[in-house]
Amino acid sequence: MSALTELCRQMASCHACGLAQQRTQVVPGEGAENAEVVFIGEAPGYHEDRLGRPFVGPAGAFLDELLALAGLSRESVYIANVVKCRPPGNRDPLPGELVACKPWLDRQLELIGPRIIVTLGRFSMQRYFPGQSITRIHGKPKRVGDVFFLPMFHPAAALRNPEWRKAMDQDISLLPRLLAELAKRSTPAPAPTATQAP
Ligand code: URA
Repeated sequence: MSALTELCRQMASCHACGLAQQRTQVVPGEGAENAEVVFIGEAPGYHEDRLGRPFVGPAGAFLDELLALAGLSRESVYIANVVKCRPPGNRDPLPGELVACKPWLDRQLELIGPRIIVTLGRFSMQRYFPGQSITRIHGKPKRVGDVFFLPMFHPAAALRNPEWRKAMDQDISLLPRLLAELAKRSTPAPAPTATQAP
């Protein structure tokens, strides 16, 4: 069993906060264990809580469309949430719930080692852009060391706001360029030809 699968198995019995009492099940996340791109949402909703998978309701259908726009499939990326259990009535996660759940996502990211982290909505944005406003910084990638962070609106919010929807289409289309940039950087220099060799 991979370390990531083992982590998700441990997550399934987490009781670190009160959300454990009302959930149907934990929604750890899913996708490629060595994904270059990780998407981080907020918390499971009704459909995710039922199925144990992230972004499988209407917001997930929109996320699938966005992935297709960027030439990506669900299987090639990893999708997770800052909070792994459904808050009752889909309310915002409470500060204590965010703190209790943080080590799980920290460890997931450590194990996956993505090159690009796409934050979906305010709560995941706050991890990397504390105190910022999403309307101001969405679609502006920030590079820290070898990792790009790309803040985007939450798909569910964009479904309710046509302007944000358009912005999401534009923001996701930055991904192919960022991936190409990363690929260029990690391509080893060509071996010297016979005439160049010392
Ligand atoms: N919204 C989220 O933030 N995450 C999900 O998994 C589903 C909806």
